[in-house]
Amino acid sequence: MTSPAQPSSGYIVAILGATGLVGTQLMQILEERQFPVKQLKPLASQRTAGSLINFMGEEIRVEEATPEAFEGVDIVLASAGGSVSEALVPEAVKRGCVVIDNTSCFRMTEGVPLVVAGVNDADLEHHQGIIANPNCSTSQLMPVFKALNDAFGLERAIVSTYQSVSGAGKEGMDELIDTTRSVFKMMGEPEVGARSEAVPAEFKVFARPIAFNLVAQIDQFVEGGPEDGYTKEETKVIHESRKILHQPDLKITCTAIRVPVMVGHSESVTLEFKKPVSPEAAMFVLEQTPDVVVARKPQDFPTPVEVTGKDPVYVGRIRRDTSNPEHGLNLWIVADNLRIGAALNAVRLAEVLVKHNWLKPKQPINA
Ligand SMILES: NC(=O)c1ccc[n+]([C@@H]2O[C@H](COP(=O)([O-])OP(=O)(O)OC[C@H]3O[C@@H](n4cnc5c(N)ncnc54)[C@H](OP(=O)(O)O)[C@@H]3O)[C@@H](O)[C@H]2O)c1
Repeated sequence: MTSPAQPSSGYIVAILGATGLVGTQLMQILEERQFPVKQLKPLASQRTAGSLINFMGEEIRVEEATPEAFEGVDIVLASAGGSVSEALVPEAVKRGCVVIDNTSCFRMTEGVPLVVAGVNDADLEHHQGIIANPNCSTSQLMPVFKALNDAFGLERAIVSTYQSVSGAGKEGMDELIDTTRSVFKMMGEPEVGARSEAVPAEFKVFARPIAFNLVAQIDQFVEGGPEDGYTKEETKVIHESRKILHQPDLKITCTAIRVPVMVGHSESVTLEFKKPVSPEAAMFVLEQTPDVVVARKPQDFPTPVEVTGKDPVYVGRIRRDTSNPEHGLNLWIVADNLRIGAALNAVRLAEVLVKHNWLKPKQPINA
């Protein structure tokens, strides 16, 4: 292993899931934002342990994620899936680390702050070792909801998502490429007649073939109870939004759709406010909101391809809800799900902890 060029002071940062899509972005964003990393510890499964990753121009060997791997680590940025976090995050906390977790494992746990940077940073102060990063579809809504809520009093939100395949990790991106190739291959074969027959036979990440298609299922379906028939992804947007905005009674509903887009989640949102609102007033508010970019002209609507690799949340198509013209608005909200939806937010949360000297929990840990 070659030693990375490291600053003399700073933090020992472990990336749990370093070989994944979010892990790769995390390392890129730590570099871009010059986070004070004294030593980087890339952790992944046994499958990729021993491989080399590049950080700050140096090659670092990936280690297997074990409880002992967290000894001496200050900050863990975790993105290796919910079951891995469930097993390893408490081990890291026991060893004195603060963990910013990208999975859904602890998001709704009492005492675990669920935070979008710039929206509810103050919630970080009383963490007990674990901080949760929201679902990617929730994160990009929050700066917009918070600003409009403060100005006009948000009463109800109807959200429809158009989520890219990268939200399902590297296997999701591979499946879009493979199924697209397979459609083209089948269309080129003489025995394939009607175009509708040209669908790939094999798919495993998504519930239907994703190439040239839409899939109205992200995560598992809820069975029974008041949310019967929703997907877990949809319930995450609902419950996480309420927790982040501190509005447990917010009326919010969601339909989540997977679309054949590589990176970038898009959301069609209808909002209802207590106070009267106009597109002009909403645009004015959002233009003053950090991390939000407003497209004033309808034809300047953002697209996932255009926002990929960019930090802000882009909002366009801001117009009256003609079924509720005094109090309702329709918006189109697009952002890079791997950045604001995951890695960028995690690094920004670490920056807030460092800035306020909040890295160590203020309360005893019950882990
Ligand atoms: N993609 C998004 O937009 C997004 C947004 C917000 C949150 N998240 C969440 O972040 C997590 C990771 O997402 P991703 O898109 O980066 O997935 P991914 O590309 O599939 O990467 C998964 C990572 O987890 C590692 N891993 C898997 N099993 C492991 C184990 N048993 N022990 C240690 N490491 C293990 C993998 O290592 P190997 O290479 O060794 O298999 C890889 O580094 C998920 O929980 C996801 O829900 C994703």
